[in-house]
Amino acid sequence: MSTESISNIPVHVSLIMDGNGRWAKERGQERVYGHIEGVESVRACVEAAVQTGVRYLSLYAFSEENWNRPQAEVTALMELMVKAMAAEMGILNKNGVRFVVIGNRGRLSAEINASIDECMDMTADNDVLTLIVFLSYSGKWDILQAAKKMAAEMLEFPEKVDSILEMGVDGFDRYLVTAGIPDPDLIVRTSGESRLSNYLLWQGAYSELLFVDTLWPDFRKEEFRKALESYAKRDRRYGKVK
Ligand code: IPE
Ligand code: IPE
Ligand code: MG
Repeated sequence: MSTESISNIPVHVSLIMDGNGRWAKERGQERVYGHIEGVESVRACVEAAVQTGVRYLSLYAFSEENWNRPQAEVTALMELMVKAMAAEMGILNKNGVRFVVIGNRGRLSAEINASIDECMDMTADNDVLTLIVFLSYSGKWDILQAAKKMAAEMLEFPEKVDSILEMGVDGFDRYLVTAGIPDPDLIVRTSGESRLSNYLLWQGAYSELLFVDTLWPDFRKEEFRKALESYAKRDRRYGKVK
């Protein structure tokens, strides 16, 4: 993949990986077949992100709403996650990738939480690329947990109440589960759906959005590169006049 022609590389690219089920159905296969093939796309996009100099790559892997899918599919997705972590972490670590999982981890099994902790600890000092997997995440849940954290802090430390009430939007950022991670510059959703499905509602306030028809298992390096090219042409005004 040539990176020569791409200018204005975004710091943080976020991918809503959608369309695995449809990809499998088109081939007369079970939905899980699409999820398995989707792991290959994750590998390709991580490589492409490293090659192009993207510093943060985040993936919407499982939403809070996805818990409402049939139990067999939920179990298959969680098993796939554990398997992919075990298979990929050595190479990710070698390539300087910091691995982070963000979401409502209280809903995950002890087994998956243990694997996540192990991978996060192992890669904590890497700084080539931060790979963030949003697992059991939803934007509304994130904002709500932030508000609760803030309220609890006010109750515990009454001396902080005034400064918390004076706080601006940047101050609220530190209560979100994404604290310390820059907001996504570009959010790409595959599979032709034009919605956020409760993804980064606060953090995506000024993200550039790109909706592509490609189903996630077909989204590989060339599609990633095209997304960066599309981003390079955008004019981000943040409400100002240019
Ligand atoms: C994305 O593909 C994977 C997850 C949401 C976990 P889907 O499973 O949503 O596939 P479609 O959208 O039904 O084709
Ligand atoms: C969004 O995909 C969530 C993830 C990609 C993890 P869904 O397939 O769950 O979204 P909807 O149901 O089409 O909105
Ligand atoms: Mg879907």
